[in-house]
Amino acid sequence: MSVGYQAVSWNRQKRIYDVVLAGFVASYLAIFIGAGSVVQRNATAETLLIRGFGTLSLLLLHVILCIGPLCRLNRRFLPLLYNRRHLGVTMFFFALAHGVFSIVQFHALGDLNPLVSLFVSNTRYNSVAEFPFQALGFFALVILFLMAATSHDFWLHNLSAPVWKRIHMMVYPAYGLLIAHVSLGALQSETSPWLSGLLGLGIIVVITLHVSAAMKERCLDRECTDAVADGFIEVGEVRSIPENRAKVVTLSGERVAVFRYGGKVSAISNVCRHQNGPLGEGRIIDGCITCPWHGYQYLPDSGASPPPFTEKVPTFQTKIVGTKVLVHPCAHPPGTRLEPAVL
Ligand code: HEM
Ligand code: FES
Repeated sequence: MSVGYQAVSWNRQKRIYDVVLAGFVASYLAIFIGAGSVVQRNATAETLLIRGFGTLSLLLLHVILCIGPLCRLNRRFLPLLYNRRHLGVTMFFFALAHGVFSIVQFHALGDLNPLVSLFVSNTRYNSVAEFPFQALGFFALVILFLMAATSHDFWLHNLSAPVWKRIHMMVYPAYGLLIAHVSLGALQSETSPWLSGLLGLGIIVVITLHVSAAMKERCLDRECTDAVADGFIEVGEVRSIPENRAKVVTLSGERVAVFRYGGKVSAISNVCRHQNGPLGEGRIIDGCITCPWHGYQYLPDSGASPPPFTEKVPTFQTKIVGTKVLVHPCAHPPGTRLEPAVL
């Protein structure tokens, strides 16, 4: 929640998340470098570090890309989403370490500026087997930097949610560049077939999860069009909405969360003002609709965050006819209080 741009506060769950992440990162590097020094006897310590940092950041990137669709498919994965920003920044720092170590190892000993050498030491752009794959890694790193640098809620607030979202969607071009970086790089070095196999598996998992989540979303987006009187649309039986929970419906192309609470029914936009979290998958806690992603809260009848917070979402008129819930598809301006329908 924010007054100005105040960030979502620190809590015990975030600390546990960070400890688990730090433990995983330390164990991965210890195992990779320990096993690497036994299996690849002619690899230097620098090479093992470069490979350890590179593979670790790519693995973390796969986890980051899978978290979104996993949460769409099953709510039990939601805790993974709460601290995804720390995962992203950690991934960027290891990618940076990999890039810097590579530039020092492969480009710092000549007369040229290492960054210039990165682009001019190999210009065989028309060859697949000898493609300058390091340049692709550089461009991916620039995107990851932009994302890490703007990941704080301060930037989300100042850049506006749509611009921030656009920057963070660039993770997909970065992922594509990295697939090419690693695949083309593997053609030029003596990396193990395990790397190519695991990369292939990673791509399949990322694509399958995204397609499955998109198919689930499409079912949700099927329009409710059962218009009754006065332009109101029937969205289902009252008993189909559990107490203090919502049913999400699509009306005139917009997702609407219809909440039932204490004998009343109210409807607000399903899109949280923080990072577009699905409000309809949240619960009513202490009288407020609570976003399942990071806990922003909204009053069900007005769509406004309780004072002193300032976020507001659009609201929709509701009505009960017999055992049915009806919602008017016209959105009222964010924060407009509407009388809840009484059961
Ligand atoms: C300035 C940017 C970058 C440069 C100069 C660079 C350079 C290199 C080089 C020289 C290799 C071959 C290493 C070897 O086989 O010994 C490599 C491999 C690799 N890179 Fe990068 N890279 C950059 C960015 C990235 C980024 C951003 C990531 C991931 C987030 C990444 C992930 C990898 C991986 C997974 C490998 C394969 C590791 C292996 O060889 O076992 N790289 N990179
Ligand atoms: S609280 Fe972060 S998306 Fe809703």
